[in-house]
Amino acid sequence: MFADRVLSGMRPTGRMHIGHYHGALKNWVRLQEEYECLYFAADWHALTTHYETPENIAAMTWEMMVDWLAAGLDPTRSTLFIQSQVMEHAELTLLLGMMTPVGWLERVPTFKDQQQKLADRDLSTWGFLGYPVMQGADILIYRANMVPVGEDQVSHVELVREMARRFNNIYGREPGFEDKAKAAMKKLGAKKARRYGELRAAFQEKGDEAALTAARDLLSDTQSLALGDRERLFGYLEGSRRMILPEPEALLTENPKVPGLDGQKMSKSYGNAILMREDPAEVAKKIRTMQTDPARVRRSDPGNPEKCPVWPLHKIYSDEATRKWVWEGCTTAGIGCLECKQPVIDAIVREQAPIIERAQKYVDDPTLVRNIVADGCERARKLAEETMRDVRAAMGLSYD
Ligand code: TRP
Ligand code: SF4
Repeated sequence: MFADRVLSGMRPTGRMHIGHYHGALKNWVRLQEEYECLYFAADWHALTTHYETPENIAAMTWEMMVDWLAAGLDPTRSTLFIQSQVMEHAELTLLLGMMTPVGWLERVPTFKDQQQKLADRDLSTWGFLGYPVMQGADILIYRANMVPVGEDQVSHVELVREMARRFNNIYGREPGFEDKAKAAMKKLGAKKARRYGELRAAFQEKGDEAALTAARDLLSDTQSLALGDRERLFGYLEGSRRMILPEPEALLTENPKVPGLDGQKMSKSYGNAILMREDPAEVAKKIRTMQTDPARVRRSDPGNPEKCPVWPLHKIYSDEATRKWVWEGCTTAGIGCLECKQPVIDAIVREQAPIIERAQKYVDDPTLVRNIVADGCERARKLAEETMRDVRAAMGLSYD
């Protein structure tokens, strides 16, 4: 616990498209090489905006899970689960809601935005307002310190940090904290205790962030500490409270955005998406008919790649030399648009071949997916339960 842990989630939207792949999944796969990772289908989150149309949530979740596995998420490395199957998320949402000021939620940039964008629905609901609280519970319940997200989610993670800070300030208080922290230090053993003391002083007296990190690593590497002592020592580094819920950090996924076939944001509901597992003939058809620079009416008209939605695809899929060929060919009318699109078609088909292959066994036997997710839910539940025992006790709710 308090070791590096990655957590992220996605609303269940069914089959994934290449925007999901480049914007999130590829990065999730990379992270599992290095860290303990948890990834979940945020099905309750779907209901915060689509509570009137719940029909497809489960089917969309299973389709999404197949694509996660196809993308290369490895169930022996990553825990894959469904939010609503780990009930503790609801309990922590409720409890965090007790101490989260409504003003914080009203100020979340997506709150007003989404209400305006989705004006056809009544989103003046408690669930919609409280959705960042639920996101906070998702993250804090696993004491995850790294949360890979896109730009639109960074402000939510910021808010979750504030919730953790507020929680620790209110519930991490205890009489005789300083003495208890010093007693916990002794349990580190003489050598580690001295090192901890030095690093703590370096951070508190000189603001040395590297010392803070080193001290946290030292604690993470110490297996023998009881949970309460661990929380005290984490908290003592920065102040005079136990750190019951560590503050997470957003890992911004900085991959370039994948535009849809019409240059708008890629989305299945706009009908402009290339799926992550698409028939090669379909890939070719979609790319060949996709829009280009509107100024290039005839083959002999020069174009401007900056005004063409094919260009961002070259930025993702093509090497330097190909991009140069595109730029020169387009601006001088040296190449035609179909010619220009071919390397993109080839690259997408090449990228998808192993993905389609990995998906096959899950498509053939859906019980494989069910079992992987059932195991994931169970693993997640165990971790969540550990945190909840602590949270309940801190909030005065332990009756043992
Ligand atoms: N809110 C995220 C989205 O709409 C999904 C999500 C829910 C999430 N809980 C999370 C992402 C926790 C990261 C961590 O895409
Ligand atoms: Fe777009 Fe390529 Fe055609 Fe230029 S040549 S307009 S970049 S498709």
